[in-house]
Amino acid sequence: MFPERLSEVQIAVQHALDQAVARLPAGDLRDAIGYAAQGGKRLRAFLVLESAALFGISQAQALPAAAAVEALHAYSLVHDDMPCMDDDELRRGQPTVHVKWDEATAVLAGDALQTLAFELCCDPTLGPAERRVALVAALAQASGAAGMVYGQALDIAAETAAAPLTLDEITRLQAGKTGALISFAAEAGAILAGAERAPLAAYARALGLAFQIADDILDVEGDAALVGKQVGKDAQAGKATFVSLLGLEGAKSRAAALIDEAEAALAPYGAKAQNLREAARFVISRDK
Ligand code: IPE
Ligand code: IPE
Ligand code: MG
Ligand code: MG
Ligand code: MG
Repeated sequence: MFPERLSEVQIAVQHALDQAVARLPAGDLRDAIGYAAQGGKRLRAFLVLESAALFGISQAQALPAAAAVEALHAYSLVHDDMPCMDDDELRRGQPTVHVKWDEATAVLAGDALQTLAFELCCDPTLGPAERRVALVAALAQASGAAGMVYGQALDIAAETAAAPLTLDEITRLQAGKTGALISFAAEAGAILAGAERAPLAAYARALGLAFQIADDILDVEGDAALVGKQVGKDAQAGKATFVSLLGLEGAKSRAAALIDEAEAALAPYGAKAQNLREAARFVISRDK
């Protein structure tokens, strides 16, 4: 069942990240890195481990890749929250890194989490060197200037754009800032197995967009105590979101259609993909 499986993933990934952080030199920087790597739903790690399981790859083998995507994601959140970007003071129910320490520490902790992610992708546990190289390349593409960072740049630019973004433009923005890393996570199992990535890519494309739509809806309707971050910030900052373009109901029906699409893409995997199907449902019903 999905909720139990997600809890197991949360524990395993936290342990892997804690171990990696414990190997770093002690000090403020290490404390900030460890702090930023705590908590979260661990949906991306779940996608890595469940996609690996489709191909018979064990949790123990795939775990460094699951920890890697969460380290990369944690870095993106630390920088996303900084005053030069979204200027947020709360993340995962705690003060953001730049509030608890300072901006320089937040930049550096983010930098270090990013490089830690690539180091984790090189862990020999993951399998043959050529598969690890493929994983590193996929993570670099997903997170860089054609992926997550690209989406973040579009997101910031949209705040001051002369005209509201079109549906296509918002889709491109969100596919970058959120979709690319979710796609990496869902395809990681196929990469590690040297298998065909297309069905998982189709699943993740729809899932990633639905996930960001749900995030945008939570910013409007969510309870800050549950979501663990300030709400109402998107409209205040003039963000371009599906909610700003389609309204709440339009955004909800779009997310629901995307989840049907994501589930349909899993057909080739049959019953083995049940957890991934349930994860898709969770993405639009979540309250945090
Ligand atoms: C938040 O991601 C940022 C987005 C890309 C929407 P999550 O909602 O996965 O955050 P955590 O990891 O659970 O805190
Ligand atoms: C963040 O999107 C995406 C990344 C960090 C790459 P948001 O800015 O919408 O995420 P939240 O709402 O702050 O979690
Ligand atoms: Mg942002
Ligand atoms: Mg933000
Ligand atoms: Mg948001």
